[in-house]
Amino acid sequence: MIVIRNETAPDIPAREILLDRALPGRHLKTCEKLRRGRSPADGLAFSAWQGARLAGTVRLWHVEAGSAGDALLLGPIGVLPECQGLGIGTLLMDHALAQASAMGHRAVILVGDAPYYERFGFSPAPTASLTLPGPFERDRFLGLELVAGTLAGAIGMVKAGKRLDAGDDRRRAALIEFRQAA
Ligand SMILES: CC(C)(COP(=O)(O)OP(=O)(O)OC[C@H]1O[C@@H](n2cnc3c(N)ncnc32)[C@H](O)[C@@H]1OP(=O)(O)O)[C@@H](O)C(=O)NCCC(=O)NCCS
Repeated sequence: MIVIRNETAPDIPAREILLDRALPGRHLKTCEKLRRGRSPADGLAFSAWQGARLAGTVRLWHVEAGSAGDALLLGPIGVLPECQGLGIGTLLMDHALAQASAMGHRAVILVGDAPYYERFGFSPAPTASLTLPGPFERDRFLGLELVAGTLAGAIGMVKAGKRLDAGDDRRRAALIEFRQAA
């Protein structure tokens, strides 16, 4: 059975290992510039547990989506390679989007494979006149309006949002592992 919970600090070492396996090269992505040194939006980081094993992770982040203003950036989402195709990604996406909507957020953007994300309502149309602070493939830059019309006519650069933090997950993971071993 899979259980989705809010991410907590002790999840971070396992999350780092999971993402290194599911998404090698993730630190080089343009979206990482919008996340680096920041914390996810409050209440919008989730872990999927299969018993005692962390099987999946997803986070959402505050961004400014050009002229549309406040929005969320989704990512990374990752599922352990041996657990992929079991519906865990779908559980994480459905839960994350439902929570974001319940919390009053109005739009979500991401960069990813359209054939996967379109089943959750994402498409390239809402982000067509937005740009990111680095290289990206236009057909993988997708948006979803949680409130209809939020991204209508949105134009300009996506910038990191207001939530600041000194977070570096690789350092935090090493610290948590050190404390657990002590
Ligand atoms: C993408 C990912 C999060 C999906 O999670 P998951 O638990 O494997 O997905 P689910 O079991 O919920 O859904 C499986 C369905 O998604 C499809 N799917 C999975 N990855 C896909 C992709 N990259 N593109 C298109 N479809 C994809 C499967 O073919 C399957 O389709 P079906 O329902 O028609 O059979 C996970 O596979 C993962 O971490 N992959 C490695 C990273 C990656 O490839 N990211 C690319 C997306 S940006």
